[in-house]
Amino acid sequence: MTANVNSKHLTLMTTQRIGIILNGVTGRMGTNQHLVRSILAIIRQGGIRVSDDLTLMPDPILTGRNASKLAALAAKHSCEKTGPLKTSTDLPVVLADSAYPIFFDASGTLQRARFVEMAVQAGKAIYCEKPTAVETREALRLADLCEKAGVKNGAVQDKLWLPGLRKLALLQSQGFFGRILSVRGEFGYWVFTGEHEGQPAQRPSWNYRKADGGGIIVDMLCHWRYVIDNLFGEVKSVSCLGATHIPERRDEKGVPYDCDTDDACYATFETERGIVCQFNSSWTVRVRRDDLFTMQVDGTHGSAIVGLRKCWFQSLAGTPKPVWNPDVDSPINHYDHWQEVPDTADYDNAFKVQWELFIKHVALDTPFRWNLREGAKGVQLAELGLQSWAERRWLEVPALV
Ligand SMILES: NC(=O)c1ccc[n+]([C@@H]2O[C@H](COP(=O)([O-])OP(=O)(O)OC[C@H]3O[C@@H](n4cnc5c(N)ncnc54)[C@H](O)[C@@H]3O)[C@@H](O)[C@H]2O)c1
Repeated sequence: MTANVNSKHLTLMTTQRIGIILNGVTGRMGTNQHLVRSILAIIRQGGIRVSDDLTLMPDPILTGRNASKLAALAAKHSCEKTGPLKTSTDLPVVLADSAYPIFFDASGTLQRARFVEMAVQAGKAIYCEKPTAVETREALRLADLCEKAGVKNGAVQDKLWLPGLRKLALLQSQGFFGRILSVRGEFGYWVFTGEHEGQPAQRPSWNYRKADGGGIIVDMLCHWRYVIDNLFGEVKSVSCLGATHIPERRDEKGVPYDCDTDDACYATFETERGIVCQFNSSWTVRVRRDDLFTMQVDGTHGSAIVGLRKCWFQSLAGTPKPVWNPDVDSPINHYDHWQEVPDTADYDNAFKVQWELFIKHVALDTPFRWNLREGAKGVQLAELGLQSWAERRWLEVPALV
């Protein structure tokens, strides 16, 4: 406990330690987004200051299968502020330790259920990466499991806190768009196949194998579900075409393997508000647009386009009048007439923002609505997307019970 002096009061600052088990964080997402840019960033900033007299301080332990990988990760990221990071390959022992009330999982999607079950049984609050499963029934079973055990739970829905989307939500809350008509999302970039010298693949090979939980439909429709539900109304129907454009890639060891699942998908959704949303997702496109993900929203009174961090808008009064004439170069530069929403806040890392909300939810019982039941809706949309592709038809999206 330390004394905290401000102009009016002398208060005693309490730092409450929150033990967090970080499972499967030697991987890409676990290391970069969750360990380094979220939990360690929170520790380095001095914890989560929730009031003048209370700070919540994460105390992580890294768990996984490979002791030397865990030790190397811990050594690389331990510093004066964090102290030496703890590791363990004995998850049951760590789960039995009441000093760690939160269990987080960023292991492979197909490993998730087993770990969640163990952690629920140990009475931990559960937080995990998406997708929570690859089948709706399984995702709902995990949500039920948490609810019946009475443990707090959450699924990562990071895109909601991207600065670009937060700026778009600001425009929307001020009635900028009039009536929103349609939304077009373009996600993707070129993922190297690994077959060319000096161009190693930048995504894990399991992404391209169905048996390992891969496929871009399972990966991305989870995200589009919560983005659309939160901004444009609940998704009511889906039409989805997948493709495996590149049938063979090289794995992490340079060995060729067959890609038996989708590396691109072309999906259209209708929402309860009658908004048409088209989202292309692809690991087989090259980028000539503002960002790796862009989303354009067109409304009767204005349009906006977002990237990961920026948001540009064009009002009805500021809309130029294009006339079709391919015989001359366009007299209008279509990148003109857009204004940028300025930065008016500190836009922290999106994963970190959601982590802070979850930690406060566990420690202080503050609201947190991005739970495993919400996560299951994303799995449902992915499953329906795959079915729509297989049957080549539109499908309704029933309410989940
Ligand atoms: N929120 C997002 O934007 C986003 C983006 C990409 C991936 N993801 C999700 O994050 C998860 C991890 O993806 P990734 O790209 O980091 O994959 P990755 O292959 O880089 O990492 C997977 C991790 O799980 C560990 N692991 C696998 N099997 C395990 C087991 N039996 N026991 C313990 N650990 C095990 C691996 O050692 C590794 O540390 C996936 O569910 C994926 O869908 C989310």
